[in-house]
Amino acid sequence: MSTLASLEKTALAELGACADQGALQAWNTKYFGKQGEVTLALKKVGEVPQTERPAFGREANRIKVALTKAHDDALANLKRKELERSLTEETLDVTLPGRPVQRGRLHVATQVLRRIYAIFADLGFQIYRSREVEDDLTNFELLNMPPHHPARDMWDTFHTETPGVLLRTHTSPGQIHVMRDLCPRPIRVILPGMCYRYEQITTRSEIMFHQVEGLAIGERVTMTDLKGTIVAFARRRFGEERQVRIRSSYFPFTEPSIEVDMDCIVCGGKGCSLCKRTGWLEIMGAGMVHPVVLRNGGYDPAKFSGFAFGMGPQRITMLMYAIDDIRVFWANDLRFLSQF
Ligand code: PHE
Repeated sequence: MSTLASLEKTALAELGACADQGALQAWNTKYFGKQGEVTLALKKVGEVPQTERPAFGREANRIKVALTKAHDDALANLKRKELERSLTEETLDVTLPGRPVQRGRLHVATQVLRRIYAIFADLGFQIYRSREVEDDLTNFELLNMPPHHPARDMWDTFHTETPGVLLRTHTSPGQIHVMRDLCPRPIRVILPGMCYRYEQITTRSEIMFHQVEGLAIGERVTMTDLKGTIVAFARRRFGEERQVRIRSSYFPFTEPSIEVDMDCIVCGGKGCSLCKRTGWLEIMGAGMVHPVVLRNGGYDPAKFSGFAFGMGPQRITMLMYAIDDIRVFWANDLRFLSQF
């Protein structure tokens, strides 16, 4: 019992002399390690004569608890002192630059879409959102393409397992939705969004891509309005000096139909590798809304006329940034995405 008493006394004295965490650690090993004095004292309980054993055991345990608490208090005390010291002695350099926070950004396709929205907003066009899952009726038939119409071959379609339900192959079915929604009021909207085609994925074609459709309907909308709108867009987007060329084309839902080229943004028309020596870049398909489509949208073609256009903003982005592979848009590779 007297050994125990002196053990406690020395241990407490030594603990009081510990000046840092290293010393505390050593103290802890000396008393509580495998061969530590407290550890051994507790082991000795069995050797003590039976009559004294309970008292000895109780005292040994009391000392163990007391010393453990003393140690924990001393450690907390040291830590607090250390913190106080660093707060008062060390100065905080507030001029050090902070750690940069990695920020996300808009996908380049979204950035380009938003710039297109801004240009058409200035021209008085509102954005009309239209569904990506369509029916055959709206994607084809109401756009003047009855079943088995050969023009359907222009669009390779993803059909769902529900007959007649498909992924839209272009944004043009949105024309029907917006006309039926707003008829008989005049319309000036763009319809942006994702389109889907069952195509082989190559550097030039993807199974999903953006389109921006335009639609204007009113009582005296003419081809001149269409042309003016396209020229205004091309010059806003690609520079005031842009020239626009119109070629005749065919779409079932426009009559007449045109395809629109812009002089090459790299060579200005002289001919280079971007424009494949032609001096021109194709930017959209367009035309005057077909009377059948006007009627399907609820408008009387004798009174109303309209123009429509459709462009692929990713193609335009590829031209602008000399991107030679359309697959990078949805490949989710940060090495590509973080460049914009
Ligand atoms: N929908 C056509 C396409 O996907 C583009 C277009 C839109 C053409 C509007 C004329 C008018 O190819």
